[in-house]
Amino acid sequence: MMHRFVFPAWVDRAFPFTIAFVVGTAAYVTGMVAWGLSPSTIDVGYQPKQPVPFSHALHAGKLKMDCRYCHNTVEKAARAAIPATATCVKCHAGADGNGAVTTVSVHSQSPKLLPVRESAATGKSVLWTKVHDLPDYAYFNHSAHVTRGVSCVSCHGRVDKMEEVVQVAPLSMSWCLDCHRNPTPHLRPPEKVTALDWTPEESPSVLGARIKDQLHIESKTNCSTCHR
Ligand code: HEC
Ligand code: HEC
Ligand code: HEC
Ligand code: HEC
Ligand code: HEC
Repeated sequence: MMHRFVFPAWVDRAFPFTIAFVVGTAAYVTGMVAWGLSPSTIDVGYQPKQPVPFSHALHAGKLKMDCRYCHNTVEKAARAAIPATATCVKCHAGADGNGAVTTVSVHSQSPKLLPVRESAATGKSVLWTKVHDLPDYAYFNHSAHVTRGVSCVSCHGRVDKMEEVVQVAPLSMSWCLDCHRNPTPHLRPPEKVTALDWTPEESPSVLGARIKDQLHIESKTNCSTCHR
């Protein structure tokens, strides 16, 4: 009897997994780098056109509406919700077929608000374009920041002065880490996070050190904080 050497059966079974792993890893790394370098992620100054020329300078600045009136999940969830049409319609309901306005309505015939009125009539959301967009492999969480006293202004700038939202921070890994290594100067009382023009009466580092103690804030730099 002649015995030929044969690989044990598990090698055969494992082979497809090995290939899948190698190919998968290569694709994953390529994807990460490509996505990480794509303009929508790291382009400071990215300012896409929106279907409605919605002005934060008017609504959040002049009319002094709190960010949470519209972005109402920002303290509770990872994502800051973009308001539904119903939120706009509270103030911008259209006129009925006879041109009569039944509720209090600002600019009920404005052509700029046509997509809002269409959305209210059809139930289809207004198609806002995302301004900030991290790659999916990086995990971000709004509530983890705003409930620990990191203001919107630290990451989004003076949105209350913007006619159109523009990305002011690179959202790169080194940008995240710069603050995570030393968050102290960026901390303020959590109830002030949406007051973008707020300035402390004492030095920001003294205030920050106190808040850091009170809220037990740590410097989080483990890879698994943001890649999970
Ligand atoms: C009246 C409702 C309203 C208020 C108040 C409001 N926003 Fe917005 N916000 C919107 C809408 C609608 C969009 C989507 C269109 C756009 O990007 O302009 C948006 C978009 C944004 C974006 C960009 C989101 C993205 O796509 O990346 C940021 C950042 C933002 N808001 C921050 C704020 C901050 C900070 C405040 C408080 C100073 C605030 N907003 C107050 C309605 C509002
Ligand atoms: C520590 C930095 C940081 C702070 C503080 C912060 N944001 Fe953001 N924001 C981001 C990042 C990063 C994104 C992109 C998230 C993504 O693509 O997954 C984002 C996205 C958004 C979006 C788009 C929807 C979403 O969640 O992707 C809105 C709206 C927004 N932020 C509003 C706010 C408001 C309002 C505040 C303050 C109450 C705030 N942000 C505070 C970093 C921050
Ligand atoms: C609390 C009331 C209120 C809410 C809610 C509100 N707005 Fe307004 N908006 C106003 C007021 C008041 C003005 C007009 C200010 C002026 O003309 O001086 C205005 C003006 C506008 C204009 C300019 C219209 C024109 O023809 O000049 C647009 C566009 C607009 N809003 C979009 C929106 C969108 C989109 C939403 C929802 C995300 C929204 N608004 C939510 C009160 C509101
Ligand atoms: C301006 C300062 C600042 C910036 C910029 C910042 N962070 Fe943070 N981050 C913090 C602080 C402060 C905490 C709270 C730490 C704690 O709870 O001990 C935090 C917490 C987090 C948490 C929750 C950690 C946990 O274990 O609960 C995640 C996830 C996170 N950050 C991701 C990011 C990412 C991703 C970016 C960049 C896109 C970023 N952060 C940018 C200050 C910042
Ligand atoms: C505070 C959050 C945070 C921490 C901690 C963090 N990363 Fe990242 N990382 C990010 C973000 C955000 C991006 C996306 C950057 C971009 O889009 O340019 C990223 C991108 C990457 C990329 C893609 C290539 C690149 O540079 O764009 C790799 C690889 C990576 N991280 C590895 C790590 C490793 C390894 C660790 C631990 C030593 C780590 N990260 C810790 C937030 C973080």
